[in-house]
Amino acid sequence: MSTWDGKEFKYLQLERYFNIKHYSNPNLFEWRKILKDVFHYDLSDIEAIGISLNDNYNGIYHQNQNDVVEKRNLFLDLNIPTYNVDHHYAHALSSLNNIQKHFVSDCQGNYRRWMSILEDKKIIDTKHDPVNGKSFGLSLDEMGYFLGVGPAYHFDNAGKIMAFNGYGEINPTYLKFMEQFGLEHSAITLEYNNLENVLNKFITPKDTWDFVKTFHYRYSILFKEYLSKYFKEEDVFSYSGGVMQNIVINTKLKASFPNMYINPIGYDGGLSIGALEAVRKIYEYPEIKINNFPFIQEDECPERPSQNTIDKAAEYLANGKILMWYQGKGEAGPRALGNRSILANPNVKYAKEMVNEKVKKREWYRPYGASVKADKYRDYFKLDWDSPYMLYQSEVLRPADFQSITHADGTCRIQTVSSDHEDFYNLLNSFEDRTGFPILLNTSMNLPSFPMVGSKETTKKMFDNSDCDVLIIGDNIHTK
Ligand SMILES: [Fe+2]
Repeated sequence: MSTWDGKEFKYLQLERYFNIKHYSNPNLFEWRKILKDVFHYDLSDIEAIGISLNDNYNGIYHQNQNDVVEKRNLFLDLNIPTYNVDHHYAHALSSLNNIQKHFVSDCQGNYRRWMSILEDKKIIDTKHDPVNGKSFGLSLDEMGYFLGVGPAYHFDNAGKIMAFNGYGEINPTYLKFMEQFGLEHSAITLEYNNLENVLNKFITPKDTWDFVKTFHYRYSILFKEYLSKYFKEEDVFSYSGGVMQNIVINTKLKASFPNMYINPIGYDGGLSIGALEAVRKIYEYPEIKINNFPFIQEDECPERPSQNTIDKAAEYLANGKILMWYQGKGEAGPRALGNRSILANPNVKYAKEMVNEKVKKREWYRPYGASVKADKYRDYFKLDWDSPYMLYQSEVLRPADFQSITHADGTCRIQTVSSDHEDFYNLLNSFEDRTGFPILLNTSMNLPSFPMVGSKETTKKMFDNSDCDVLIIGDNIHTK
């Protein structure tokens, strides 16, 4: 949920407020309570409402599919103009940076479209499999279900399956099979029964890994070919929708389209920002200004850590301790970027296993990302562009030294941290003084099946219920 009053922008992912992962508003009226309790506005303060609805889910369809915004009388008791904003248009606008051209790719979209090209308010092209309705994202999701990594239609399956890519090789037989199908006919990959049959024939884990690797390879080509129809190599365009969380595809596309901007909150958690922007455009109000992006959650914000606390944290980390680091406002988007992070020394050989065992309880095959000082990242990673939002994978140049952050294919999802992100950058600096390298294993501060934490109390509880060694909230250090 987002608001803009001309001076102050406010944003909160409801999953953090309710501490329920992937919480989305099942009750269209619930926003009124958040408005009052969290955003501290009254209904009388509200001039207009933008809302991006999932057509099939709530049965409220756009009357004309080509209209990206339509005025709808959704809240009959309120005399407030309300605009239903198309799902993909809201994704496209959620980057808030005045980019005119957009690529959107998501798992289910609004159930009618799972891929769109937009130019300003116009939908230039869309993709949707009319028979099976299976997108790239949904296919990964279903693979996860058939392979037993998670329940059906579960948002986390796709991310888990993506990890298999790092273990696999491109298999010519699978590739030939997949080449029968284009973006419009995602059926294989994707047709429900067929996919189950394909996966059932696999005997070893390697079969699965190779299938997932080949699938990513095939789709990275399809995505590139599709984008090439609408964008030149030098074009500036935004990429949003839930598939923007797939770092394998992101990295391939960024290599071909260097000016592509991926919005770190381009998944459904950012739809409210896009809906807000759509309404702002209708009213022709001045642009929305956001300070300290992406640290914008309207959650509990502690006082800043002193240099002494930062140095103590660095010392703990250098000595191999696992540390929970809660600072400032929470990050928008699914990645912890140094405000709601669990951190560890990547040079400690079994740091990944320790983090898994003591706190995160994640599956063994999933890799951890890393944060590195932006001015030094090229000494340790091979990536041709900055990655401030942890949206790309990069080759690790010294994998033997950093085994705990190096995936099976020699890559790592990295966050390049600039000095603007002052406290976290200082922590990396202080850690570098002690170890010689400015890199930390960085994963989100949440327990399995829970969202990232948003309050001191939840954080403290999480710390108490884990075997994590140290917790730092603002300037306060807690140890066990
Ligand atoms: Fe979406």
